[in-house]
Amino acid sequence: MRSGRFEKGMADDMRSLNASIGFDKRFWREDIEGSKAWARGLLDSGILSAEELEEICGGLDKVAAEIESGEFNFSEELEDIHMNIEARLSELVGTAGAKLHTGRSRNDQVATDFRLYVKRAATEASEAVGKLMQAVVAVAQTCQDVVIPAYTHLQRAQPVAFSHHLLAYVEMLERDRRRFLWAAEQADTCPLGSGACVGNQFGIDREKLQEELGFGSLTANSLDGVSDRDFACDFLYAASMLMVHLSRFSEDIILWTTSEFGFVRLGDEVTSGSSMLPQKKNPDACELARGKTGRVVGHLIGLLTCLKGLPLSYNKDLQEDKEGVFDTHDTILGILGVLATLVKTMEVNRERTSGSLEGGYLEALGVADYLTRKGIPFREAHDLAGGCVKRCEELGVSLPSLSLAEYQSIHAGFEEDLFDAISVEGALADKDVTGGTAPGQVALQLERWKELLK
Ligand code: ARG
Repeated sequence: MRSGRFEKGMADDMRSLNASIGFDKRFWREDIEGSKAWARGLLDSGILSAEELEEICGGLDKVAAEIESGEFNFSEELEDIHMNIEARLSELVGTAGAKLHTGRSRNDQVATDFRLYVKRAATEASEAVGKLMQAVVAVAQTCQDVVIPAYTHLQRAQPVAFSHHLLAYVEMLERDRRRFLWAAEQADTCPLGSGACVGNQFGIDREKLQEELGFGSLTANSLDGVSDRDFACDFLYAASMLMVHLSRFSEDIILWTTSEFGFVRLGDEVTSGSSMLPQKKNPDACELARGKTGRVVGHLIGLLTCLKGLPLSYNKDLQEDKEGVFDTHDTILGILGVLATLVKTMEVNRERTSGSLEGGYLEALGVADYLTRKGIPFREAHDLAGGCVKRCEELGVSLPSLSLAEYQSIHAGFEEDLFDAISVEGALADKDVTGGTAPGQVALQLERWKELLK
């Protein structure tokens, strides 16, 4: 925006570089909402008459209708959404429109628009995370009979309820959901009335502005008010953490869909084929979730880096704060929706999951625990169980099919009840602590989630 002090026009490439209308047009709703509240404030300050306020609000409604219907002519000459709306308003209502910007700066205006936007985006994200959680809990509910190996180092470790594995992701998602709610709270402070940087000179009632715009509190320092973008970083961090979780979930699902694992089959809704290999059904949705994590984390790092060298207060660098947030908002909502469909349409292959429990000596700790319960020190029992695994390897059998005589040749304390103790059911049942994989514990967690997500 240039006043009468300029003699020459802007260079074409500078105009393009300087303009943000290409992306900040996305703020049009927030901008109009903010302008109406501002105009009402100007009435109370005696700057506008009741008639002028009415003209302005009517004009802003007209502008909103034009934007909504696609007839609005966005201009790069006018730089950004704020000037585009104000200029059109003045065309429509004349002098009253020219009074609207009294005591206001685009600096407090854009900070207000952005906070309103992030508040909504974070709330929307928390709701979308909740929906994905519901979908995961529903699958966990119907798969309580399914057992898979739990892995450490991606090596088979111990049997675990498949539901327990799924609910681990629900824990992560609940933390994400809460982070988004927290990010919405961080954005919930009104900077309007901070002016360009030192405050308003027309005695504007900021408390009233806050209330009209539905903010929970007011910024207490005008310099901070126009230059603080922490709330955008908070949103981007919540989104980055979410994407890291979704990427890990995706990686598990990708593994499960391989011929090597074969634990699940994905629906046609969320998979794609190969242009060359007819047999392929690729887990693209998961790969995209994993791949898009980089760009969301990149937006967080981008904004932090943009902020780190800025002196107080507003600097044009801050115009770079928006595109990453917009892209993140679109990306996470897109991914959350597709993954919810993926989870709902995923089929578990019970033959493959139960087959995966065989042959990996998953019972070895159970063998050691059995001896430990008979009073043998764990270190010694651990060593003896290792001897049983070795014997199985020599004979080419599994731990449950090694004969009692073989066990007894290793330690006389082994008896017939060993086989129940090291069965899959036995191995799950004894993990009966809060957070453990015993069926009763998993059922308790399922109840907890169903209650929480109602
Ligand atoms: N388009 C600008 C932004 O996004 C609006 C604020 C510009 N303020 C200024 N004094 N040039 O940050």
